[in-house]
Amino acid sequence: MKIAAIILAAGKGTRMKSALPKPLHAVGGRPMLAWALDAALAGGAETSVTILPPDSKPIQDWLDGGAFAIQQKALGTGHAVQAAAGHLADFDGVALIMFADTPLITAETLRQLAALVADGSAIGVLGFETDDPTGYGRIVTDHDGSISGIVEENDATPEQRDITLVNGGIMAVRTPLLFDLLAQVSPDNAKGEIYLTDIIAIARKDGQRVSVLVTHEDEVIGVNDRVDLAIAEASLQDRLRVAALDNGVTMRAPDTVFLHADAIIEQDVVIEPHVVIDAGCHIGEGSIIRAFSHLEGATLGACCIIGPYARLRPGTHAGDGVKIGNFVEVKNTELGAGSKANHLTYLGDAEIGDGVNVGAGTITCNYDGYNKYKTLIGDGAFIGSNSSLVAPVSIGAHAIIGAGSVINADIPGDALGLARAPIDIRPDGAKKLHERNAAIKAGTIKK
Ligand code: UD1
Ligand code: CA
Repeated sequence: MKIAAIILAAGKGTRMKSALPKPLHAVGGRPMLAWALDAALAGGAETSVTILPPDSKPIQDWLDGGAFAIQQKALGTGHAVQAAAGHLADFDGVALIMFADTPLITAETLRQLAALVADGSAIGVLGFETDDPTGYGRIVTDHDGSISGIVEENDATPEQRDITLVNGGIMAVRTPLLFDLLAQVSPDNAKGEIYLTDIIAIARKDGQRVSVLVTHEDEVIGVNDRVDLAIAEASLQDRLRVAALDNGVTMRAPDTVFLHADAIIEQDVVIEPHVVIDAGCHIGEGSIIRAFSHLEGATLGACCIIGPYARLRPGTHAGDGVKIGNFVEVKNTELGAGSKANHLTYLGDAEIGDGVNVGAGTITCNYDGYNKYKTLIGDGAFIGSNSSLVAPVSIGAHAIIGAGSVINADIPGDALGLARAPIDIRPDGAKKLHERNAAIKAGTIKK
């Protein structure tokens, strides 16, 4: 059977207290809507339509051509699904109804849910058992154990509120039957909304089979506010860490390591405590990321050693065996194999060859307040400590830059570049100065 996903994202999301629409709030660095769409696709959906509110330009821009339909007023989840009717006019198959606020759902669970419909149920409901059912629709069962309906919290009797099997929100429904069922739902409830959940009781009365797939609570965390968002993030981080550990990554304190969902971390990488791997990182085999480092948009070859306290910003590309040490910031810079910048350095907009040694306190002066310029450093060059390389500038292969130099001219290969004031040594100068200062303090002479 064909599968189409309907992703509901037209709720007001007021509980988020945010200028950013709820579906664009991120977990694992990706918008919740992205997670829902990806899961739908991986779960077998051939098409998807996202239901949005009228003033939803940021989400429409994010969708970038992806199909959407507008729900003119947020009159409930059932009403929202009705907005998809035009898109699915000729569709005969399973509609997977998903929420943009349920980002942890897996493709495998969606596939199992859709299979319930393929196997003859009119509706497959995704439920879960919870210690705290607050806020969720309760799944009400008959004496034979079959589901008879879903009751929302506001409409539930005290006995129904004690039910611990609740609605995860996601459903698979045979379509076009879905729209026939929705046409029979009335807003006769505490909120005056058209509830999607009401189609269950209608289908049952109509003699249709409704099945429940029970999943784990973690998968169906519904994000209504920032507390839920933090819970979802924690749960996703656990998943990402376990996946990395399973792939052969060592973490001494995984709970303190934060991973973006797109991180590629190869085998035998060691990540020490308190590290953030943000968007767009690829860490090569056997590299070590020492404690308190922050990486974003960085690709590292094999056996690099980064940190502690390193900051790698977007556009950092390091070859094999590169060492970037404490309090070094790197941005939009290539470092060839075996190059080192071990301490207290800023490398921005630079192309650095192989085997280069960048001394402590080196700064590429890449910005004049208006434009950014490049620094080129050839293979095997040695940059002495506390040097300022004023870009645009190039340092030739195997050149040496004397410590403390301000280099504002190109240095040829094999040359020594030195730019510092000549040293002035005054014999007994310190002794004389001590004597003079002591005399001023004693009042015997005036300054
Ligand atoms: C819903 C379910 C509840 C379930 C819970 C799981 C209904 C009536 N209730 O409650 O049984 O336990 O999810 O998390 O379905 N939306 C629209 N248009 C609307 C209203 C909502 O698009 O008019 C969207 C929201 O953007 C959101 C989703 O539907 O993505 C769920 O809406 P929400 O208001 O969060 O429903 P819950 O009260 O959590
Ligand atoms: Ca919700």
